[in-house]
Amino acid sequence: MIGFIYRKIIKPILFKFPADDIHNLFLKTGNIFGRENIIKKFFNSVFIYKDEILKQKVLDISFLNPVGLAAGFDYDADLIDILPSIGFGWHTIGTVTYLPYEGNPLPMLGRLPKSKSLLVNKGFKSRGIDKVLEKVRSKRKESIPLGISIGSTNRVYKKIEDMVEDIYSSFERVLRVDYFDYYELNISCPNLINVDNLKEKFDDPVGFAILLNKLSYLNINKPLFIKMYLEKEVEETLALCEVANNYKWVKGFIFANLVKDRSNKNFDRQEVESAGRGNFSGKPTEELSNNLITEVYKKYKDRFTIVGCGGIFTGVDAYEKIKRGASLVQMITGMVYEGPSVIGNINKELAVLIKKDGYQNISEAVGKYYR
Ligand SMILES: Cc1cc2nc3c(=O)[nH]c(=O)nc-3n(C[C@H](O)[C@H](O)[C@H](O)COP(=O)(O)O)c2cc1C
Repeated sequence: MIGFIYRKIIKPILFKFPADDIHNLFLKTGNIFGRENIIKKFFNSVFIYKDEILKQKVLDISFLNPVGLAAGFDYDADLIDILPSIGFGWHTIGTVTYLPYEGNPLPMLGRLPKSKSLLVNKGFKSRGIDKVLEKVRSKRKESIPLGISIGSTNRVYKKIEDMVEDIYSSFERVLRVDYFDYYELNISCPNLINVDNLKEKFDDPVGFAILLNKLSYLNINKPLFIKMYLEKEVEETLALCEVANNYKWVKGFIFANLVKDRSNKNFDRQEVESAGRGNFSGKPTEELSNNLITEVYKKYKDRFTIVGCGGIFTGVDAYEKIKRGASLVQMITGMVYEGPSVIGNINKELAVLIKKDGYQNISEAVGKYYR
């Protein structure tokens, strides 16, 4: 019912306004709602779907359900208090950068409804690590698992070591506090200005090893996931995984980030041709994400925990990623198009699918295609 009202009444109104304004409105409202117990109680009663079959422990973290909010929606930690009440099982804030960056020139967001996709041109908008940590400190309640995504400040670097130093400094700050259950290292934002002139980059094994070597000097004491590129060939992705395999504290990968290639067959041609500067989420990311999950799971099985991310709109979409090898999933675009009730719907559908396949718990379904 709530989903129907969102799609038929609320969304058509919201979609008349610029996407950037609506995103900001969501963050402000979410921030305010998060302080009101009565609103949270109401949301709990309408949005949350609970089922024992969805509970699992992954990397020693307890998840009530596998559906998380991906990095990029709550980049400044506004939604920490409200998010559990709309049914998410976990929550990544960020991507946060060491220095503040006000974001690329507007518009930073756009909509491609026929392609079920969003145009993203934020370029790591962030208030900077210190301000964001300060905000988390003021908010964190015992709640769903919370993680922070760290990326490099969007500026020009002379050499990769400077970029590595920037990321290192953010992690240094994050490791001083105990607010997070896990970390994400985002090496794959496709709309940064700072990479074209660099000899080594994070998308080649040499540059990637420089980054991980440096981070080894820190005591990364919580699970760390690497947010991977979507549009790499399988061999290139496996080469990066092989580098990560040398570092025990790299616990997993998130497959994956945004689509850059406008010839991706899942776009509505007219829509994508008239889109402005930026990269794309949603359905055009789904197939590539699923392929990477498959190949990395087949090769590494339990060595890496896989998070499936890209184009999830339904429980069937999420379950496909799980059966290919993802222990957990994340999403943004499905929620924007279907409304917040989609999280509960996905969980409900997942529980039905898992039971239908005869499993006692979601963890038994992980990678079932290849076991
Ligand atoms: C508005 C928006 C901003 C994003 N910003 C980030 C980001 O800062 N860091 C990141 O790792 N991924 C970012 N992403 C990518 C998402 O985390 C996710 O990988 C991608 O959107 C695919 O998932 P979806 O189809 O469920 O949206 C962003 C996506 C969107 C839609």
